[in-house]
Amino acid sequence: MKTATTDAMENELDALYGMSKEEMAECAKHLMLGGGTRGGPTLHHGKGVRVWDVDGKSYIDCTAQSWALYLGHCNEEVWRAVDAHARRLTHVHQGFDTLPRFALAKRICQIMPKGMNRVSFVPTSALALEGAMKLALKNRPGSAHFICLWDSYHGTTLGTMGASWIATQSGGSYIGGSRFLPLTQQPVRAPNPYCYRCYWNKKPESCGLECARWLELTIKKSVNGPPAGLLIEPLQASGGQIIFPKRYLEAAREICDRYQIPMIFDEIQTFVRIGKWTAAEYYGVTPEFIVLGKAVGGGLPLGVTVVKDGLRGYDPDTEELHTFANNSLSQVAALKLLHIIARDKILDNVNRMGAYLKEGLLRLQREFPEIGDIRQIGLHIGVEFVRDPESKEPLDAETRAIRDEGIRRGVIFGLAGVRKNLLKIKPPLIITEGECDEVLRVLREAMKAVLR
Ligand SMILES: Cc1ncc(COP(=O)(O)O)c(C=O)c1O
Repeated sequence: MKTATTDAMENELDALYGMSKEEMAECAKHLMLGGGTRGGPTLHHGKGVRVWDVDGKSYIDCTAQSWALYLGHCNEEVWRAVDAHARRLTHVHQGFDTLPRFALAKRICQIMPKGMNRVSFVPTSALALEGAMKLALKNRPGSAHFICLWDSYHGTTLGTMGASWIATQSGGSYIGGSRFLPLTQQPVRAPNPYCYRCYWNKKPESCGLECARWLELTIKKSVNGPPAGLLIEPLQASGGQIIFPKRYLEAAREICDRYQIPMIFDEIQTFVRIGKWTAAEYYGVTPEFIVLGKAVGGGLPLGVTVVKDGLRGYDPDTEELHTFANNSLSQVAALKLLHIIARDKILDNVNRMGAYLKEGLLRLQREFPEIGDIRQIGLHIGVEFVRDPESKEPLDAETRAIRDEGIRRGVIFGLAGVRKNLLKIKPPLIITEGECDEVLRVLREAMKAVLR
């Protein structure tokens, strides 16, 4: 709702950075980006699932901006809480306790699997993963190497980049992560359970879990010394929205138990988005570490490392110290986010809208056989485009063109997968049936324009 105060604030912002198109182009030259495809609309403001560009055109945002805005853009309640707290405290050194940090630590432990009762906060997702890696090393003396899976993505810090597919030739050429090898961590990789393109040409219903057998062989034959941990997305996001069978994760747990290898669940994308608080809960598999990031900060930067009881945590002797590790504002936003998710039964909406979108996508698949595979759990949805269902030849250029048509028609889809033939539909978790219909309608129009 517009008031005299909000108008005054808008004017203040416009005075601060308002500019012409020419000035924008001039400013853009000074920016240096290391990733993220530029060239989409220049965004001005957002509300709920929608975002508007500087020309006033509106879009449904099926990326939730790096999948990080669970309550959509500019949730009033979150920002009211942040605003109120900002008048009390903003930046606080890690060595000082605060009320939001206490409250958030307790709340996160309530929604973690039983037996996970200690958390550490850091400024962002990849740092939280590095924290889990530090603790895994600390708990496994004599270990030096991590295991991760083919096509995994864990970030671009020097500690995580080596475990992301962007350091390999998975995507067809050596890109970003391959340029910093002298400093990146060098994990050992095991095959991912990518059932749609099974490396052993098996069917999930009847396979003998060859991928899990290879995990064990990798542990036994490919790692020097005891492995420090298995770093794993319980279902892969950036690599291609690849949903892992429950049997695989259960087998991985059993193998890790047998070889005493800590499991680190990278839940940076799965947390809440798959219709349960955690993938650990969804799969009934409890790891030694769970790492949260992205959306957990309610739209502000926050990473969380959660450790299982009985393991060594941090010692306060500068093992883990960051200037902005105790960001009160992110903690308040996180608390409000978790409160709203529980109060408004957001998990139910995730499951209902996820199933609704899947039904719509299945209808589209009957019309467009180029939809090779639809992979959906909750609102973690990927659509893989292929030339035809038999050859499964990836349609990379066409997938990008469909994404671009979507933007032209008012829906921002994500684009990913090591084969670049995957459209991601991962909107804010508050999306309604009517908005899902709009997304499906635009997707159909975009596919018609590109494929017919
Ligand atoms: C599964 C997963 N892990 C880690 C990261 C790294 O997160 P950030 O870029 O917020 O550090 C990402 C980011 O896309 C991710 O998807």
